[in-house]
Amino acid sequence: MSASDSDRARREELSTLRDTLSRPLPELDARYFYDDRGSALFEQITELEEYYQTRAEHSILADRGEEIMRDAAAVSLVELGSGAGRKIRLLLDAWSQRDDGGRCVMLDVNESFLAASVRTLGERYPRCAFEGVVGDFSKDLRRVLAPSPCMTVFFAGTVGNLYPDARRAFFATLAASMRPSDSFLVGVDLVKDRARLERAYNDDAGVTADFNKNALRVVNQRFGADFDEGAFEHRAFYDDERQWIEMRLRATRASVASIPEIEWRRRFAVGDEIRTEISCKFTRRSLERALAGAGLLVRAWHADREGLFALAHCWKRA
Ligand SMILES: C[S@@+](CC[C@H](N)C(=O)[O-])C[C@H]1O[C@@H](n2cnc3c(N)ncnc32)[C@H](O)[C@@H]1O
Repeated sequence: MSASDSDRARREELSTLRDTLSRPLPELDARYFYDDRGSALFEQITELEEYYQTRAEHSILADRGEEIMRDAAAVSLVELGSGAGRKIRLLLDAWSQRDDGGRCVMLDVNESFLAASVRTLGERYPRCAFEGVVGDFSKDLRRVLAPSPCMTVFFAGTVGNLYPDARRAFFATLAASMRPSDSFLVGVDLVKDRARLERAYNDDAGVTADFNKNALRVVNQRFGADFDEGAFEHRAFYDDERQWIEMRLRATRASVASIPEIEWRRRFAVGDEIRTEISCKFTRRSLERALAGAGLLVRAWHADREGLFALAHCWKRA
């Protein structure tokens, strides 16, 4: 990205931040969880007993990785929001092309985590070419270039962090960039009973609480904000009607936060909240409907044995 492009991107980001923090219920985008501390905390979350998602998705990839790679017939892979790049290994293990010049592009907002995972994967799979792209999957899909047939993968239910309008735009942009033999493999957490869902976001050890509060630390460091990190507590609950988990930070004492660069200032009274994440849950039908809106057709549905999580493999409708 050129210096003027990155200046423009920062101005746009600040303007969005001002807008979302000025809403009646202020909001922060879920990407602000992820500096190195946040990414490491997410890795800890994946190992929690309460957080079934990672184990379930991993079991699907272990059982169905070969079938998925056969169906994809891909010469390249792209992973969005790749994080530590662990799950992709199950696909790389099942991918014969990687020994024959296969290419794998990873895109993530966290530059240092991305660099480390590209390096680790390069050492483990020396005949496959890995590339890291630092970017935002909502804005930078066009910067990812990989030969066709390409399979784009989006794990961990991260697509559920997009609000429905942003998700529509994301699917539309992705579909527009897909060629006829390209495919998209997307992991989603499935609708289930409230207690199980809420437990996954309210672990006993408080790791998710630390992860949630990390968003304030990231905004403080990145944008010169002065949120009083100790003045907020973690809250997560399931909204039945919208079929999403919401994570919020609730003020436990009065404080004032500001971001001088964008002339934003807000007083938080006890009980005031900031929404830091939504995590949409899906049924097969609701996901198929959302994808169909962008002309994407689910050709294979892979769920784990307990029906907790699913990977949908889709192509563009002919
Ligand atoms: C829930 S974690 C999933 C990590 C990994 N894919 C996995 O399955 O364990 C979400 C990942 O997406 C990245 N991320 C969050 N928002 C992003 C955005 N807007 N654009 C690109 N990456 C983003 C984070 O840095 C993090 O690595």
